[in-house]
Amino acid sequence: MRVLLLTHSFNSLSQRLFGLLRAQGHEVSVELDIADAVTEEAVALFRPDLVLAPFLKRRIPASVWSRTVCLVVHPGVPGDQGPSALDWMLMRGDAHWGVTVLQAVQDYDAGEVWAWEPFDVRPGATKSSVYRREVTQAAVVAVLRALQRFVPGQWQPAPEGAVVAHGPGRWLPLMPQAERRIDWQHDDTATVLRKIAAADGFPGVLDAFWGQPCRLFDAHAASGAVLARCAVAAPGALVARRGPALLRRTVDGALWIGHVRPDDGQAARADGASALKLAATRVFAAQAAALPAWEVPLMRDDYEWDELRYHEFGPEGARVGWLDFDFHNGAMSERQCQRLCDALRWVRSRSTQVLVLAGGAEFFSNGIHLHDIEAAQRIDGDSAADASWRAINAIDDVALEILTLTDRITVAALQGNAGAGGCFLALAADEVWAHEGVVLNPHYKNMGNLYGSEYWTYSLPRRIGEAASRAVMQQRLPLVAPLAVQRGLLDACFAGGADAFVAQARARALALAAVPDLPQRLQQKARRRAADEARKPLARYREEELQRMQRNFYGFDPSYHVARHHFVYRKPHAWTPRHLALHRALDFHPLEPGLGAELT
Ligand code: COA
Repeated sequence: MRVLLLTHSFNSLSQRLFGLLRAQGHEVSVELDIADAVTEEAVALFRPDLVLAPFLKRRIPASVWSRTVCLVVHPGVPGDQGPSALDWMLMRGDAHWGVTVLQAVQDYDAGEVWAWEPFDVRPGATKSSVYRREVTQAAVVAVLRALQRFVPGQWQPAPEGAVVAHGPGRWLPLMPQAERRIDWQHDDTATVLRKIAAADGFPGVLDAFWGQPCRLFDAHAASGAVLARCAVAAPGALVARRGPALLRRTVDGALWIGHVRPDDGQAARADGASALKLAATRVFAAQAAALPAWEVPLMRDDYEWDELRYHEFGPEGARVGWLDFDFHNGAMSERQCQRLCDALRWVRSRSTQVLVLAGGAEFFSNGIHLHDIEAAQRIDGDSAADASWRAINAIDDVALEILTLTDRITVAALQGNAGAGGCFLALAADEVWAHEGVVLNPHYKNMGNLYGSEYWTYSLPRRIGEAASRAVMQQRLPLVAPLAVQRGLLDACFAGGADAFVAQARARALALAAVPDLPQRLQQKARRRAADEARKPLARYREEELQRMQRNFYGFDPSYHVARHHFVYRKPHAWTPRHLALHRALDFHPLEPGLGAELT
């Protein structure tokens, strides 16, 4: 079939569907939802059998849905309607939810249901996490089922039995901030966590720190030990700092708040968009400096939150080290890279046979922290170019630690997606494992033609060869995990999704640590590294990459700075990138007319 993906942005769900539908042999092109006339033009050019809308913020024009079957993915159960479906569901505390694929008609979310898929809601999960895991997985199942019901040329789905409405059965509006407001004098910890989780990603909960309005994200309950240290503080008081986070007291506990968007209105006026999402300790640096730093060791109990954690398991001689680096949104600031580097240097001293680099629960890594870099623009004596330079050197240091760890097998275990430099950080490990829901973006060009670093010119060709490396970099397309295995970018892709992945990766790491020929494998690894170093030192790869990056950061062409600015401020797209919009390629000619009626 010829399927046009019409989407507000090419987000994780759109990328997953794009990869899966292509893998099934469908001809898939993408048009970003920019304007009705642009959508009409895309349909006229591509002549799709059907239009699939995974993520829309506006209605599909009647000129399109009245002539071509348009299926919309709604992140709610049948009967649920409105733009804040997940926010309302999480605020209600529903235990079960679902995703519906329905036909576009005049009213929002009101057309015939073609398929839907239920899921259980993970207690405590944030909106973004539910979207990336359960919603995406259920959407994949529901879309594939809906496509099975599609009979080319027909307007009705093939019969499947009546679909019963499960949701509130009414339109629920965009959730206002008043609904999300935290009452620090009355709300208990669970309520505050739920409010922040339901607004995670976007738009955040509007609150104030030291009287300065800001939106809150990335909240974690404090442990009993932390609570004992701040028991006398009044509800609402800010009492300590750790990593990126500030500790705030509630009526019955306390929580760490890792990231905020300052809401001073200034950024909105200057940039026409919302402010940057930054570490709370960075935004409130002066006030935070006066608070005690309650740091914790890398090896500690699970319930004691911090971004980094290390633990070990397995018998002596076949022991596995497991390093989590759960950086919010997978974005790695200079500070976070330095912390990770320190952790890796300390890990070297541990006697283990396998080191698992587990990244974060939501993302493995998305490379250098672009919000942090953008923020440098506003600091006297600093600049985005200088901050980019420091950040890329800091992440290169992390990659170097991994590449030179030759006395044990290193494994990157991807619990979530990885993009740009974050993807190449994973490829610095000996083995890369993921689950079937993971999407990789192993390229940099989408960020204003960045050349990229993280020693990719060494680690990518060593895996897949020069020609394939060039193709991956140039195509700049997402790769779903099963395809990434076929292409050699991943060594293994486990069935069972994110929930089963950690246990699967632990078991496999244990088995790897216990293979009888491990000493030979390690000798071979060290020999290969030494031979590679003799052929061309890692320092030279880095130098060559950084020369190109220097041009990206400081050169005449401002593409990277423009692309980064657009990305962090979520500026609306003005056009669909040509590598996604196949129908706009000069050599695209539909071989046969689409089965949907043509636009005139
Ligand atoms: N720095 C800072 N924030 C980042 C980030 C980065 N490198 N990469 C992603 N994010 C943030 C996004 O701003 C977004 O924030 P939100 O909480 O306000 O929603 C969140 O992470 C999720 O990103 P999103 O783009 O919505 O996720 P996706 O799964 O749809 O797309 C990518 C994944 C990797 C394709 C996309 O995030 C991307 O292009 N990131 C930039 C990668 C990059 O160029 N890094 C620098 C070069 S190394």
